[in-house]
This record gives sequence, C-alpha cells and structure tokens, in this order.
Amino acid sequence: MKKFADLDVRGKTVVIRQDLNVPMKDGAITNDKRIRAALPTIQMALDKGAGVIVLSHLGRPTEGEYAEEFSLQPIAQYIGTLLGKQVRLAKTIDAAKVQPGEVCLLDNIRFFKGEKKNDAALAERLAGLGDVYVMDAFGTAHRAQASTEGAVRKAAVACAGPLMVSEVEAFSKVLSNPDRPLAAIIGGAKVSSKLGVLTNLLEKVDILIVGGGIANTFLAANGVSVGKSLYEPDLIEEAKRIMAKAKEKGCQLPLPSDVVVAKALAEGAEHTVVEVSAIPDDMMILDIGPATEKAYEAVLAAAKTVVWNGPMGAFETEPFHKGTVALATALANSNAFVVVGGGDSVACVEKYHLAEKMGYISTGGGASLELLEGKVLPAIAALEDRS
Ligand code: 3PG
Repeated sequence: MKKFADLDVRGKTVVIRQDLNVPMKDGAITNDKRIRAALPTIQMALDKGAGVIVLSHLGRPTEGEYAEEFSLQPIAQYIGTLLGKQVRLAKTIDAAKVQPGEVCLLDNIRFFKGEKKNDAALAERLAGLGDVYVMDAFGTAHRAQASTEGAVRKAAVACAGPLMVSEVEAFSKVLSNPDRPLAAIIGGAKVSSKLGVLTNLLEKVDILIVGGGIANTFLAANGVSVGKSLYEPDLIEEAKRIMAKAKEKGCQLPLPSDVVVAKALAEGAEHTVVEVSAIPDDMMILDIGPATEKAYEAVLAAAKTVVWNGPMGAFETEPFHKGTVALATALANSNAFVVVGGGDSVACVEKYHLAEKMGYISTGGGASLELLEGKVLPAIAALEDRS
C-alpha cells in the first residue's frame, strides 16, 4: 500500500476517510478510543502543510435522510478540542472546502445517497474533494462503500493512513509471519458467528482457546452436560470436526475443566465453581473456573504471538468477569506479541488498564474478524491495487 506518511502534500487538500463511529449516549461520546486513534493522521496532514477534509460514518442512519442523532457535530467539536483548533462541520459535499492548515469534517457520510451501494458518482465526488485520498478507516475497511473502496479507486492519488498501516501490520504479524507458538483466543456467544474465524485460524495456530458460549458448545460436543448454559446444539458436529482437525494438526485446544455457574445472569448473582462433570441441570456456565484459568495461563506461557477476540465468560456482569480479566492480565504480563481485537476484549483491557501492555489494540470489530476469517477486505484490496 502507498503510505500517506511518505507523501509530500504541502499546500494541498487531503481527504481522510476515518472511522469515527464511536459509541454515544444522549449526544455525548462515551468512548473516544477511535477518535484518539484517528487524530495523529489529521495532525500529520496539518504538519505536512495540507488542508484536511475528514469523512466518517456514525451508526446506521437511513441513507438520504438527515437525522440529528447521527450527526457528526459532537465529534467535530471533540476533535476541535483535542486538536486545539476549530473543526468546521460541512452539511453538504459542496461545503466541504479547506485552505491549508484548516480542518473540515463532512457530516455523516451515510446521510448521502449512494454511500452504501458504492455508487460510482458519489465515490468520484468524494475523491475529487482533494488532491490526495487517505483511507485510514480500518474499522470500515470490510465495507465496499463509496467512501471506503470506491473513492480509493477513483482518486488521483490514494494511499493508506498511518492507522490503517498499523492495523494491517499488526494483523499480518499474526496471520502471515508469526513468531511461534501462535495462539488464538476466540470467545463469544456463538460458534455460528465465529465459525469462519475458527476454521481459518485452525490452519494457522498452534494453540486455540475458545471461550464463552463457544466453549459451552465444545464442551457439549465432548459429551458434557452443560445444564442451562448458552450453547448451540446445531453446531455440535462442527465443534467435533474442529476438535478432530486440531488433534490431527497437533494444535492444542484445551477446554475448561472447571466453570463458574449460577442460576441466572445478574450482577452479584449467587454462584459457585464446579467441575465440568458436575454442572447442575438448573444452572448455567458464566465464566471459567480457577483451575481452568491456571491451565490456560500455563498453555499460553509458551506462546510468542497471540491474537485475542472475545471474552471467556459474561465479563460485563460481575462477578463473572474474573476469568476474562485473569486471562487478559496473563497476556499483558507475557512477553508474547498480543493483538487484541473485538469490542468486548478491547473493553476489558481498557477497563482494567491493561491496554498499554498489549502489543496492539485494534480499532476494528467486524473488520478485524473478517481478517481473522482470512477474507480480503475490499478497501485494503483497493489500496493495494492503487499502490
Ligand atoms: C464498526 O463499528 O464496526 C464500523 O464502524 C463499521 O460499522 P458498520 O458495521 O455500521 O458498517
């Protein structure tokens, strides 16, 4: 990919597609991680002497309709405060104009008809807003839309922003050329939603740890009676196939030996630790137990590269956070290069102040999962074609 860092853009207009799709509540930003990750690219463009037009989506508004709740106005203000300069919000594409040294944010790109279906005319207009089109929205790189893929193909000069470059490099350290042993930790509610990830990673990893409802389905596939736990009976055959394949390939795939169970998922719910052979019929698995924590830590101690996506249990509801936090702490303290992707895992490392100690924290949810699935992301393919 051509890199923005290498370009001379003095006196030019740079259009940067970023992923400023941050969680909001009552008009206030509740997590600014994506904005902070995007900021150095804007600063880089200003430092190079360019004027900057920023594009982003926020949420999923009805295309072609303005809706205040999806407006980027609060984000323009927020970026302005962080940059220490005014960031003007343009409501129309024609109004998105800048002089060198200025920053303008076009309102939610999903307000404009044609964005989602990657309309060629819209892509051309967006690409034509500046001299250079910088695709830096890794979190949206799996969408072939006018501002993510179309404009990259139409722009006179298209390149990858530094955030995009960091993301791609971090995942390629895991997926293309890892220091081994390579471990993947894939948690979450459903095998079905991560089947592509599990299948692809199985071809690459030396250690595969599954967590949450996914692990419950694997336990059930091993004949464990999982009580009222969340699991997918329809995916038992897939789980068996994955375990057989892991065995054939010499990939370690440890499962919980003990679990935390409760009658209901609720804050502070009464709970107990049981062996997996003794899960009561009226209880559900909500976390891994202490013996499993230790066993996973021991297996992971050997890993030199780890990719982690998804929690071990119902980590947002205390006291069922412990297994996930123990695992995150072990990863933070290990010497392995650890890439953390996906909303819950990232939320966990942030909440427990472990982010600094990880190798890389991705800003992509769906995009990082698609990379782990082995898919080619359309915006990255476009950038590679344009290099
Ligand atoms: C995300 O939050 O995963 C990205 O911003 C993409 O958003 P989307 O799923 O609405 O395309």
